[in-house]
Amino acid sequence: MAFNILTAREAAEMIENGATVGLSGFTAPGTPKAITEAIAEKAVREHEAGRPFKINLFSGASTSDHADGALARANAYNMRAPYQNVPDLRKRINAHDCHYFDRHLSEMAQEVRYGYYGPVDYAILEVASVEPDGTLVLGCGLGNAPTYAKLAKKIFLELNEKLPAQLYGMHDVYLPDDPPYRREIPIFKASDRIGSPVLKVDPAKIVGIVKTNSYDCVKPFSAPDEVSTQIGKNVVRFLVSEYKSGRLPKEFLPLQSGVGNVANAVLYDLGESKELPNFMMYTEVIQDAVLELIQKGKCTFASTCSMTFTDQTEERLFSDMKFFHDKILMRPAEISNNPEVIRRLGVIAMNTALEADLFGSVNSTHVLGTRMMNGIGGSGDFTRNAYISIFSCPSITKGGAISNIVPMVAHPDHSEHSVDILVTDQGIADLRHKDPVERAHEIINNCAHPDYRPLLREYLELGIAGQTPHNLKACFAFHNAFNETGDMKNADYGKYL
Ligand code: COA
Repeated sequence: MAFNILTAREAAEMIENGATVGLSGFTAPGTPKAITEAIAEKAVREHEAGRPFKINLFSGASTSDHADGALARANAYNMRAPYQNVPDLRKRINAHDCHYFDRHLSEMAQEVRYGYYGPVDYAILEVASVEPDGTLVLGCGLGNAPTYAKLAKKIFLELNEKLPAQLYGMHDVYLPDDPPYRREIPIFKASDRIGSPVLKVDPAKIVGIVKTNSYDCVKPFSAPDEVSTQIGKNVVRFLVSEYKSGRLPKEFLPLQSGVGNVANAVLYDLGESKELPNFMMYTEVIQDAVLELIQKGKCTFASTCSMTFTDQTEERLFSDMKFFHDKILMRPAEISNNPEVIRRLGVIAMNTALEADLFGSVNSTHVLGTRMMNGIGGSGDFTRNAYISIFSCPSITKGGAISNIVPMVAHPDHSEHSVDILVTDQGIADLRHKDPVERAHEIINNCAHPDYRPLLREYLELGIAGQTPHNLKACFAFHNAFNETGDMKNADYGKYL
């Protein structure tokens, strides 16, 4: 079957107000780059003509400025799920211009299949190649492409000519059956392949192909500052002591690592450690540091949903595909983040918190309890099911006006029941086998900034009877002080008692 070649604008013209669109990709890689921008331009034209135009958009995770940036600026979203990290969209979400469903990434595809979100009208998929029978080799991020392609009434392809043919074989496309027919997902080590290297779609659904030619435009990392370097060193110190104590098996265990500068810094430090053996990763994204670790032989295999490499690192990968080809495997998000597999493999989860409280609960998503930052992403998938779950954050933010250790988190994403270890630039709090009061002292002494320790100890003294000595009148004194005076150090418990 010969497919139509379209311009992005021609494709966008076919997408109507109110349509539901599913995108391939996970973070910027694998995310379409041209049609979403053309839809944003169409939205602007429609709005100028006085007509309504908004779409519902589902992705694998965050996307890129080509999608979330352009569409948010054009106020073209009605509904958006399951994750985003773009400032322009954040503004729309917090202004109620866009209905945002912040979901565990492992659950999105199945929930769309279960019908929770209504029908999918269009899938837009970035591909490295397409055969006349609808056989596709996907790009550098997979996300929920298999589900959106299966459910969509029509499919647009973006054939990215920058993507090398050797990407063939680096995907493991697998769609689980839905209950009551679901079986075990047969991954027993991070490198097990269970699916197909290609995605097969019904060629009759392919409306046309838009050609692009672009790297994935992942934002370069800033050099690690003193605080993130210290956090990285503390995480590695913890892992080394666990390993030496025999609480981790001698073969070590697969690692998951979140995104961002701290995560990248931790991985570089792990690479330097002579005390830890070589390891595999079972994770949702791999960043620049991982490619280097693979090259050095420290990371022997990475199972991921996306290769979230900066353009420079992507170029390095593409120029040596022979070496990297059998060391990286991309899976759909519901497999890369699958609770069953994470629990079975014993993944060590390392994620970042906005704030943590004295008893170990973590807020990953809502600044000061109300304003959406990004979303829960995959942090819940991994944290709840990990062999060891580690959260890290700086001890203070905004020059010390915010303590990232607070009496009670203003929005709970991960409860004390799922968080094992808390790490800041100050040190490591081991929360395992400790009751709430013991945990609070461990966190104050090891993780809180010295400027906030007296205030946090004072809070513990206000506790009303019960195992967890919260004072429900004064538990948000830190947040209130910041909102009222711009500095949490002005917290005054007396005002509430
Ligand atoms: N209260 C208010 N603001 C806070 C804060 C707090 N407790 N902690 C941080 N901030 C602010 C920072 O000052 C910064 O503000 P700025 O943009 O004005 O400079 C911003 O929030 C981001 O902080 P930063 O320390 O740079 O965060 P980060 O890039 O390390 O990201 C998360 C931290 C929690 C936002 C990020 O990890 C995330 O979105 N996590 C959820 C998803 C996830 O964990 N995925 C994991 C699998 S990939």
